[in-house]
Order: sequence, then structure tokens, then C-alpha cells
Amino acid sequence: MLTLGVESSCDETAVALVEDGRVLANAVRSQVALHAPFGGVVPDLAARAHAEAIDLVAEEAFRAAGRRPDEVEAVAATVAPGLVNCVVVGMSWAKAFAVAREVPFVAVDHLEAHVFACTLPAPGSAGGEAPALEPPFVCLLVSGGHTGLYRYEGPGRIRRLGRTVDDAAGEAFDKVAALLGLPYPGGPHVEQAARDGDPFAFDLPRARVKGRRYDVSFSGLKTAVLYATRGKNQPRSAPLLEGVRVPDVAASFQEAACEVLVDVAVDAALDEGVGALALGGGVACNGRLRALAQARGRAQGLDVVAAHPAYCTDNAAMVAALGAAYLAAGLPGPDDLARGGEARSVLA
Ligand code: KG4
Ligand code: ZN
Repeated sequence: MLTLGVESSCDETAVALVEDGRVLANAVRSQVALHAPFGGVVPDLAARAHAEAIDLVAEEAFRAAGRRPDEVEAVAATVAPGLVNCVVVGMSWAKAFAVAREVPFVAVDHLEAHVFACTLPAPGSAGGEAPALEPPFVCLLVSGGHTGLYRYEGPGRIRRLGRTVDDAAGEAFDKVAALLGLPYPGGPHVEQAARDGDPFAFDLPRARVKGRRYDVSFSGLKTAVLYATRGKNQPRSAPLLEGVRVPDVAASFQEAACEVLVDVAVDAALDEGVGALALGGGVACNGRLRALAQARGRAQGLDVVAAHPAYCTDNAAMVAALGAAYLAAGLPGPDDLARGGEARSVLA
């Protein structure tokens, strides 16, 4: 079944075509350059950019797949969570497409789509091969807007086990990058800087949340980075202390953040008795997180699978694939077309 997926919940306009589990096209237009001068996503600018880009991104997807709009048999779009004025651009475009072509519309939860992305074979696969990962599994989802741990059983059968009590993991990487004078979005720059750094140069806290086995917190770690680089009780605007090397701070922060995330994730996978741990979301592009999860997970007998980097950051392949899986399971309700910008995620 040829399924069209649409994603516009934050700063990526994305359209994908998926057929029988195979990704035929995964077109993404990023707005990073537009928001970089502001150090974060500006919602109104983002919504306008989605409106300007969506037709072009869709054309690109059809061209790359070598398929026509009249061949599409189902449409899926992210309806929550996300910036509401951004979500409605892609969602409304997708609904109009579905109504005009008289094909089913599936309302997709962005977070379940990130988790489902861990099951997709790598881009360029010929198709017909086994999925990268079969449920049940535990997924550590680490993105710029959300951080959570989920037990995944299949489409619509997902349960949150834990989450961050303050910043999302990506937000923490981005804030530490800003503290270190690295460009936005900071995650990849922190990773890059950390390559030349000593991960044990600074003794940073690896705090877990008391009484909440699967929750994480990044506020203490962020403050520890501020004090280590500026001095105790100094403001963010204070100059870097003499002798502080940015690569050492980046490496020490990355190590602390990744250790906490991997520890809760491995504990959850073992407690849940699932055999497999998946990593998804933008921060799952991080090489140190992937390596640490592999090492600690494997030592406990877990199969560790990270989504392909193209399916970690926001994309529509994960949305189309999840929409198709819902249809295959006979799941979408008759009211999916009626779900609007007020839709809430029960997974956030
Ligand atoms: O999943 P995503 O594209 O968007 C959301 O749904 O939020 O995640 C974006 C986040 C940003 O905070 C970015 O800094 C972070 O993922 N990120 C990384 C890396 N690549 C992207 N963080 C750490 N290391 C990376 N290599
Ligand atoms: Zn996302």
C-alpha cells in the first residue's frame, strides 16, 4: 500500500512515501538556518516556512519515488505533540489530500512515530527484509522537545515508563552548547567538540530522580556545567574561567548525560524483560550515546538497535510507516479526519 506521510510539528517540513514497509522517498527541508540567529525555533516563522515549503517538499518526494499523487492509497500526518501552528500546516495539507483523493487519513502521534522509526530498515534497503527490530522492546526516545522511555508492543500499544522531569536531552545539549559559545542547534557541535576532549576532566553529577526509577533530570548537570566553566554562583554571561578547555567541558557533559540516559534505559529494558533496547530521536544520532548503549546493553544480554540517523531527526518516513502499520492492524478510528490542532499526545 503506497502511503504518504507528512510531518511539520517543529522546524522540519517533511513528506515521505512508504510502500509495504519500504521507504521510497524521504524528503526533508530543515529550517535550521532560519532559526539559528534566534538560538531556538520561532513558532510563527516556522509555521510560515512550512506553508511555503510543503508543496515543494511533496513534489520532491513524488519525484524521488517516481510515483504520482493519484497512486497514493493512504495518508498519515503528525497531529500531536508539537507547535500547534506548525502542526496544522502539514496536518491540514495532508487531510485535504486525503479527502480530495478519497483515501484514508491516519492521525499519527509524533512520539510513537519516533519510536516506530527504530523498526525501519536503513535507507536504500531493497525491501522485503526483516524489520530492524521486532516488538516488544523498550525505547529511549531523546529529542529536542521530548525525552522519555517507552515500552513498545506494536501500533497503538505503547506505554511510557519514564521521562525527564525538566529539560529534554536535546534541549540540555543545546543549552550547554550555547554556554560554550557553540552554534545552534548545539547537539552535533557538542559531539564534535567532545572528540578532542577528556570526558573525565570535570566531575559532573550523574543524578537520577529519587523514587522515580526511570525518570531523568538535566537541570543539576546544566548548573554544574555553568559553575565548572564560570565559577560558583556566576551568571551565564560571565567569562569562561581561565584554563577551561571547551572540548573537555563538552566531553565531560556528554559523558554524564549519556551515562544517565543509558543507565535508566538498560534498567528499564531488563525490568520489562524485553530483550531489546532501541534508541530514537535527534540525540540518538550521538555516537557516544550509541556506543555506550551498545556496550552496557550488550553486557546485560540486550540487543541494542539505534534508528538510522536519517530516521532519528524529524522526518516523515516514520510517520508514513506508522500510519501504514495502523491501517494494516485495522486501527485508525473513523474520527481521525476530525482530529484537529487541539489533539494532545498521551505520550508526552
Ligand atoms: O528529534 P529532533 O530532530 O527534533 C525534535 O523532535 O525535537 O531532535 C533535535 C535535537 C536537537 O536538540 C539537537 O541538538 C539534537 O537533537 N541532536 C544531537 C545530535 N544531533 C542532533 N544531540 C547530541 N548529539 C548529536 N549528534
Ligand atoms: Zn521529533
